[in-house]
Amino acid sequence: MTDHMPDDLSAAGRDLRAYTDELRPKHPVVRNTKGEWVLLRHADVLAAAVDNERFSSQVSRYLQVPNGLDGEEHTRYRKVIEQYLSRAAIEPFIPVFKRVASQLATELPKGEVLDAVSDIGAVFAVRAQCAWLGWPAELEPRLLAWMGENHAATRSGDHNWMADVAEQFDEIIRSVVQPRRAAGDNAPDDLTTKLCRETVDGHPLTESELVSILRNWTGGDLGSIALCVGVLIAHIAKHPELVGQLCEASDAEVEAVINEILRIDNPFVSNRRVTTCPVHIGGRDIPSGAKVKLNWTSANRDENVFGNNQFDPQANAAANIVYGAGKHVCPGRLLATWELRIALQTLLASVQTIELVPERPPEREVAPVGGYHSVPVVLT
Ligand code: HEM
Repeated sequence: MTDHMPDDLSAAGRDLRAYTDELRPKHPVVRNTKGEWVLLRHADVLAAAVDNERFSSQVSRYLQVPNGLDGEEHTRYRKVIEQYLSRAAIEPFIPVFKRVASQLATELPKGEVLDAVSDIGAVFAVRAQCAWLGWPAELEPRLLAWMGENHAATRSGDHNWMADVAEQFDEIIRSVVQPRRAAGDNAPDDLTTKLCRETVDGHPLTESELVSILRNWTGGDLGSIALCVGVLIAHIAKHPELVGQLCEASDAEVEAVINEILRIDNPFVSNRRVTTCPVHIGGRDIPSGAKVKLNWTSANRDENVFGNNQFDPQANAAANIVYGAGKHVCPGRLLATWELRIALQTLLASVQTIELVPERPPEREVAPVGGYHSVPVVLT
C-alpha cells in the first residue's frame, strides 16, 4: 500500500464505507492526499476525541464557536449554547416539530418519485430549524438553495467556491441577527433574539461569534439532518419489515433503531484535530502540528467492537459514536434525535408503503460527505 490514499479516501462512485472497511483491519491509520492522518479504528478515534491535550480542535483559520476552541475558552462558550439544547429548552418545541412534519407529510405527493434527501430530509430540516430559531418562513427557499449549493461545492473540493458559499450563508445569518440587535427591546421574542442578548464573562457575544454559533447550528446541521433522513428512509425502504415494528414501538425504541441505522451508515463522516506534540497512535508516529481526521463512520463499523456489524440497537448503543465523544460531543444530539424521530414517525403514520425505484437506485454521496446524494422513493 502507498502511504497516500486517493482523494480523501473516496473512490468516485464507490461506497466510502466499503473502502474504509477494507482498509481498517490492516491499516488503522492512513494518510490522504492532503497529508491528513485519518484514524479508522474505534479505539483510536475515541482515544483522540477524549484527549484534548494532544489533539487540539483549533484546526481552522476561521472562528468556530465552540467547535474550534480548546480548554477553558471552549468550556465558557459551550456553557452558553448548552442552555438552548437541553431537554427543558427543547421540550416546548416538540409540538412545533410535529406540526412541521405533519404539514410536510400531507404535502408530499403519493405515487410519484420523490427524493428522500432533498424533497423530504432537507425541507423538514429547514422548516424545523427555522421554527426553532424563530427565522421567517420566507428564508426557506433561500436556505434550501444554499444547502444544495453547499453540497455541490463540498463535493467539488473547489476552495474558492466553498469560501463563496460560506460567505453567502453568513449573509443569511446576518440578515436575521442585525435587525434583532438594532431593534433592542422591540426585537421578536424568539431563540435567535435570546442568543443575541447572551454574554460570556460579562461581555455580549460579538457579531462574528453569533454568526459562528448560528452557522454551526444551521449550516452544518441542516445538511446532517437531511442526510440522516435519506439514510433512514433508504434503510426502511430496503427493510419493510421494520415499518410495522416502528409503528408499534415506544419513542425510546424508535430512537434506538434510528441510532443503530445511523451507526451502520453514519453520514457525518469525520471531524478534524491538530496534534500538539508527537503522538503514537494506531501503530503510527504522528508528528506535532499534524492534521488528523477522526473518521466516525469507519469507527462505528469497527469489527473489533461491533463484530460482524449485525443490526442490534440495544447491544450496539453504548459504543455508538455517531454524535462524537469527549468535550466536543454533539450538544445538539437530543434536538437531532427528536427531530429525526418525529420526522420518521409522522412519515410512517401517513403512508402505507415506501418503495425504492428499481430503475433509479439510491446514489451515494462522495467524501467528505457520507450517506446518500439522492434516494428516489415512491410513497403510497
Ligand atoms: C443530525 C445529526 C447530527 C450529527 C450526526 C452530529 C454529529 C456531531 C459530532 C460527531 C460532533 C463532534 C465534533 C467533534 O468532536 O469535533 C458534533 C459537534 C457539534 N454539534 Fe452536532 N450533530 C448533529 C446535529 C446537530 C444539531 C441539530 C446541532 C445544533 C443545533 C448540533 C450542534 C453541534 C455543535 C455546536 C457541535 C460542536 C460542539 C463542541 O465543539 O463542543 N449538531 N456533532
